[in-house]
Amino acid sequence: MFFGGWLTYLKWWFHLNGSIKKHLNLTKDAQNLLHEIIEERRNSEQEKDDLLDMLLQARYEDGSPMPQKQLIDEVMILFTAGHETTSNALSFMLLLLAKHPDIQEKIYQELSNINIHNGDIMQYVLQLQYTKQCIEETMRLYPPGFIMDRISIMDDDYKGKKINEGTLLLLSIYEVHKHPDFWESPEEFNPDRFSPKNKKDYSHQYYPFGAGPRMCVGNNFAMYEMILTIAEIVKKYRVTTPLEKIKINPLITLKPKEVPLNFTER
Ligand code: HEM
Repeated sequence: MFFGGWLTYLKWWFHLNGSIKKHLNLTKDAQNLLHEIIEERRNSEQEKDDLLDMLLQARYEDGSPMPQKQLIDEVMILFTAGHETTSNALSFMLLLLAKHPDIQEKIYQELSNINIHNGDIMQYVLQLQYTKQCIEETMRLYPPGFIMDRISIMDDDYKGKKINEGTLLLLSIYEVHKHPDFWESPEEFNPDRFSPKNKKDYSHQYYPFGAGPRMCVGNNFAMYEMILTIAEIVKKYRVTTPLEKIKINPLITLKPKEVPLNFTER
């Protein structure tokens, strides 16, 4: 299957309709805004002990700090890589829960049965095992980072197939996550696949956060963030949807086409 997310063949059209120029201008605005925020922090006496402080304090082997342009790029990538992916996964998950009220109820039961609630967020999150399984299964069906791309840095061959230097290679995580050779009833939303009892070694067939040296740096943060968000929503609301079928919108990340949800207070 070919996805439209890597729209290089439409580059001429994006040039013509001004889309590239518009987005380059938006990038400039974002860079200027980040420059101001970074300078404000640099000039303040405040220590927030957050990621920005760590980036500001980081030093290379020769003792020099990160150049401002790189600092801006690092903040921007953390923001964009971390924001849209997580919100897409949460949107898909709410749609799936709306379509599977029994599973939504199991999450609610898990939340109601929490026995340690002493304000220790980490302990709280670790108890939400079923909620975590639901997120894992959501990202199997709808991995926000659905394609990984690499450019071959030299001529190579793979299983007799010649790969020229400079070739763009795309690996569809989406397809691996639904491949019938690897998954039983691949289209079914079944969080029990990820239960401690059933979970197999999925390391060769499940990559929502990528793999290897470029694996997502925010994977644990994202899991905690998503578990907490779903917990807060399901605790307070019953989620339903009039949507018949979830439709995907594969761009840079995989999004749902529409997310009509109703929230009814419990
Ligand atoms: C559900 C949430 C997330 C998903 C599905 C996701 C997915 C991924 C994937 C598949 C990659 C590997 C891309 C590749 O190999 O080409 C990646 C890389 C990355 N992610 Fe995430 N991510 C998520 C959340 C986050 C968060 C919260 C942050 C930061 C706070 C983050 C920061 C990054 C960065 C900086 C990289 C590049 C790492 C590198 O190239 O060394 N991601 N992510």
